[in-house]
Amino acid sequence: MPETWRAMEKLYDSGKARAIGVSNFSTKKLADLLAVARVPPAVDQVECHPGWQQAKLRAFCHTNGVHFSAYAPLGRMKVVADNPVVTSIAESLGRTPAQIALRWGIQQGQSVLPKSTNESRLKENIDLFGWSIPEELCDKFSEIEQVQALFFQLSVSAQNERALRGEQVKRVRNESLVHSQSIYKTMDELWDGEI
Ligand code: A2P
Repeated sequence: MPETWRAMEKLYDSGKARAIGVSNFSTKKLADLLAVARVPPAVDQVECHPGWQQAKLRAFCHTNGVHFSAYAPLGRMKVVADNPVVTSIAESLGRTPAQIALRWGIQQGQSVLPKSTNESRLKENIDLFGWSIPEELCDKFSEIEQVQALFFQLSVSAQNERALRGEQVKRVRNESLVHSQSIYKTMDELWDGEI
């Protein structure tokens, strides 16, 4: 990692990159990087949604001046659409479950990067300002059961379903980030057991 980061720092020094950052870094990996970095990472982008809230990593990023950015902030809608905490807050505020998940992320201080190919859902997903989730309702998110790396689990199951229907699928397996011959052999090793 130090060698790769030195190459990233060179890019930064040359002006070819205005900022350099990391993705899928656990608290431990980020601490290891910060210990050797001359230019600290600007951002750590990780999976984060009500079903994997990443409280420890978010706090660590905040303390160390690293921007925390959430990919899959809707948990692919699986956590969000069916979760009674999210749906009941949505109902009480007259918002959609997706908006509640995204607004929760913003109120945690992170940037959220939801994906949608649908125009009305894109509009829904940017209508997040001028209202907020009251603090007492935000506290209810702590009741949501946490699941590590849901995004990858769902990617695999969606591909399996498509393959079962006989569709051609480009395999991006759960092991796309981990491999028996890699230094990270399991998702748990990659994430240093963090949930
Ligand atoms: P679609 O592209 O048809 O809108 P994530 O960003 O957490 O990976 O979630 C992306 C998934 O959630 C996509 O399947 C997307 O489908 C769906 N999605 C995005 N925005 C919304 C929304 N506001 N309501 C319901 N589903 C949404």
